[in-house]
Amino acid sequence: MHDVIVIGGGVIGLSIARELASSKSVLLLDRGPTGQGTSHAAAGMLTPLSEADDQGPFFQLCRTSLAMYDRFVEELQQESSLDVAYSKEGLLSLASSEESAATLLRRYEWQHQAGFEVELLPPGEVRKMEPLVTVPVIHALFMPGERSVAPRRLLNAIRESCFVRGVEIRTGVHVDAVSPNTVHFGHMTMQAASIVIASGVWSAELNGLNPRIPLSPRKGQILSLAMAPGAFRRMIRWGHSYLVPRPTGELIVGATNEDAGFDSSVTPAGLGRLLMDAQAISSYLGSYPIVETWTGLRPATPDEFPILGSTAVHGVYYATGHYRNGVLLAPITATIVADLIEGHKPRVDLEPYSPSRFESN
Ligand code: GLY
Repeated sequence: MHDVIVIGGGVIGLSIARELASSKSVLLLDRGPTGQGTSHAAAGMLTPLSEADDQGPFFQLCRTSLAMYDRFVEELQQESSLDVAYSKEGLLSLASSEESAATLLRRYEWQHQAGFEVELLPPGEVRKMEPLVTVPVIHALFMPGERSVAPRRLLNAIRESCFVRGVEIRTGVHVDAVSPNTVHFGHMTMQAASIVIASGVWSAELNGLNPRIPLSPRKGQILSLAMAPGAFRRMIRWGHSYLVPRPTGELIVGATNEDAGFDSSVTPAGLGRLLMDAQAISSYLGSYPIVETWTGLRPATPDEFPILGSTAVHGVYYATGHYRNGVLLAPITATIVADLIEGHKPRVDLEPYSPSRFESN
C-alpha cells in the first residue's frame, strides 16, 4: 500500500513522483520502460516567449515553470550526478517573408512593451551571432532568456533522483482502469490515497475516468544531425521549423505537427520538409550527417492547455495534456500536483486547466 500511485513514467509522471517522494510513499507505474514515450522524442525547448502572442494565464504558467528550471536542474544534477545539457544561450527567431516579419514585429512590440527580454536585431547581426546562418532575413528577434535541455538526459536524471528519493518504479504494467482510490491492471488491483494520471496521450484510454478527456495525438517528426560542437550555439526558429543545438554536438531539427492518430512512422514528406527548412536556414547543413530520425505523439487538448486537477473519481487526479510543453511544464506541474495532494492551495489558479471544462464530453 502506497500513499500515491502515479500512472505514467514520462517527464511529467517522473517529476511528480520525485516531488511527492519527500513527504509520501510513491509507486510509479509505466506500461513500458520509463521515459520512452513522448518525452523521449521532445526537442527540449524551454521557450515560452518565442511562441507567445499574449500574456494569458498559460504564458504565465510557462514562465513560472521556466523560472523554476535553474533549481530543478541543479538539484537533479546533484542527486543523479548526471549532466542534462542545460543551455542558456537564447533563441533567434528569423523571418524571411513579409508575413512572418509582421508576426515577429507584433510579438516584439507587445513583449518589449511588457518588459520581457527581447531584442529586435538588424539582419546583419544574425550572421555575427550565428555565422553559419545563410537564409536572407527581413527581421530577427533575439530572446536571450530562452533555454533548452536534452530531454533524454533529463529523464535519466529525474529517474535517478526518483530512486535516490525512494520512489518505487514498476515497468511493464499496463493499467486498464481506475476507480475510487484504486488502479486496475489485468486481474490485479492496487489502492492508494491518491492516484495521478500522467500517461500523456495514453491517459484517455483508461476505463473509469470521470470526466473523460478529449486528448488527441499530434505527431511530431524530428531528426538530429551531427555538427561540430559549438557550430551553432543558439536555438533558431524559422517558419514552422526550429534548430536546437546541443552543447554535445547534436543539432536537433524539428518538427512536424500532424493529425495522424497513433501512427508513429517517419515519412518522406515530413522529414523532407524538415531537411529543406534546415538547409534553407543554413546551406552548410546539407553536408551534416543525419544521426537519427524519430517521432513523438504530443498529447493535445482542444484548447491546447494541459489538464491539471482532481477528478470526480475519489482520489484520482489528472496531470496530462501538456501538448508541446511537457518538458517545460514539468517543474510547475510537479509542485501543483504535490500541493493538491498535500492539501495546500496550489500557487497557480488552476481554473483554465480544470478537468471539469470537459464535463459535457
Ligand atoms: N515544443 C516543440 C514541439 O512541440 O515541436
